[in-house]
Amino acid sequence: MLKTLRVLASQAFLTASLSFLATSPLHAAPKPAPAKTAAHPPGAAIASAHALATQAGMDMIRQGGNAFDAAVAVSAMLSVVEPISSGIGGGGFFLLHDAKTGKDVFVDARETSPESATPQAFLTPDGQLDNDRATNGPWSAGIPGLPAALVHVSQKYGRLPLKTALAPAIRVAREGFEIYPRLERGYASRRAVMERYRGTREVFLADGTPPRAGEILKQPDLANTLQLLADKGFDGFYKGEVANRLLAAVKEEGGHWRAEELSGYRVKEREPLHFKYRGWDITTAPPPSSGGVAIAQMLQILAGWDLESLDEAKRTHLIAESMRRAFRDRTIYLGDPDFVKMPVARLTSADYAAGQRASIHPSKATPSELLSGPPAPLEDDETTHYSIIDAQGNRVSTTQTVNLLYGSGLVAPGTGVLLNDEMDDFALRPGTPNAFGVMGFAANAPAPGKRMLSSMTPTFMESGDRLAVLGAPGGSRIITEVLLGILGYDDGMGAQQVAAKPRIHHQWMPDVITAEQGALSPETVKALEAMGHKVNAGEKPWGNLQTVSWDKRANTLEGGTDPRNPVGKAEVLVK
Ligand code: DON
Repeated sequence: MLKTLRVLASQAFLTASLSFLATSPLHAAPKPAPAKTAAHPPGAAIASAHALATQAGMDMIRQGGNAFDAAVAVSAMLSVVEPISSGIGGGGFFLLHDAKTGKDVFVDARETSPESATPQAFLTPDGQLDNDRATNGPWSAGIPGLPAALVHVSQKYGRLPLKTALAPAIRVAREGFEIYPRLERGYASRRAVMERYRGTREVFLADGTPPRAGEILKQPDLANTLQLLADKGFDGFYKGEVANRLLAAVKEEGGHWRAEELSGYRVKEREPLHFKYRGWDITTAPPPSSGGVAIAQMLQILAGWDLESLDEAKRTHLIAESMRRAFRDRTIYLGDPDFVKMPVARLTSADYAAGQRASIHPSKATPSELLSGPPAPLEDDETTHYSIIDAQGNRVSTTQTVNLLYGSGLVAPGTGVLLNDEMDDFALRPGTPNAFGVMGFAANAPAPGKRMLSSMTPTFMESGDRLAVLGAPGGSRIITEVLLGILGYDDGMGAQQVAAKPRIHHQWMPDVITAEQGALSPETVKALEAMGHKVNAGEKPWGNLQTVSWDKRANTLEGGTDPRNPVGKAEVLVK
């Protein structure tokens, strides 16, 4: 019988200043470690951004399912209860570890570009980027990938039928769930766009007023669409009734998708990126994510210093310099590996990292323009991540998204499917920053069937003693959230401490270190400024990191849910 051993329930985000973090020790107190490591985890652990999703995943484990069944249930439930963040109108990346074969696989369910989305289609008459087209409505949407991933992961890796894994999400779509403040806030900020569209009004203004926290949101059309997916698999979404409604909605709002672009959509299984960092084997996202390449670059640069022995200013300086360099390379080189040749092996090599390290002055900021932008507007933290380990040792790290708040804002009438606005992740106009202030050039230009470059970075890290699964939303900040998470585990933090850890970020352009309020002491800010860094230390908290970890010596599991998101939940079940 499975029983709940420990529930690390969502924690209210007590203060915007992160001062609560002062009470969490940087290093977990050393415990006397048994000499042997366990062969398997003692049970399952799941951390996700919504309690109903964590519960749906645990229901699969209780029914005899594995981590992959749980992943499908969590993913589908997040698509219902977090329409602000992800959904079956969007895409995602699933990083899987199959304990039976010992193999890791990266399931790429990124959206693809429709043929109609030529670069010219996103320019205003005077040649500027048409931001409205890039981020709102039918032109901003890529061909969805998430439904195909749910079918693929369930059928190839799961033990339970797809129908079983989708059942909790279908029930909650039909019966409704309680709207929480972040959904209400997000709706308010996207309202003008969303209410342009008939299908969106039908879902979100069903009772005549915009969604309010505490009310129940029912999505009967989405329940029917998920039921068709459960009954017919891939064809239930990409062909027939649902596909026809998606095509009609895009057309009605002035865009153009071809039926073959939907029916021809396929997930791709790719080899994840692997590299070593101070005794850890890191397994992470390959292109079309830029995250894994950047994490490999940054960690290999940082491996040249004993970060723990440095004061906060020095440590922050070196981390920011590594971020600056990785983001510069992201801008220039990375895109969809099926369309562009990229120097991934070189960028992720130890030699390249050594060269980059040598270019970092120990106490002076490198101006970004010397490495060869305009400011990055801050978005709310959308996109969503969940992390799972099961008792067999299977693991799943998934980041999924519709891109910005409520994606394109366009729900295809009669389907409940809110389409993504992922096209903005392409370099639609070379050198013009997207919504996250990151830009790109030819490698990330749109082309029919091409996948837009992503920052989503689902990751595993494993040493002889410990295993952790982690990831986060946050646009370009995903990469630095995951980097800081890895450094936190390397410092000996537990999963909950890693999720709560204060954040800093640098993305080459704009040339500024941003930090959550309270993340850096005033003395550190002064010291960084004296080195020549611009520092914006007053940012409101960002991110929503979800992580689980297994201590192989103590044979214990821990879940960590980001305290910045009060509706998240991490849970551990032992046999
Ligand atoms: O794939 C990407 O990198 C983005 N579409 C993720 C968007 C995101 O994290 C939104 N959150 N702020």
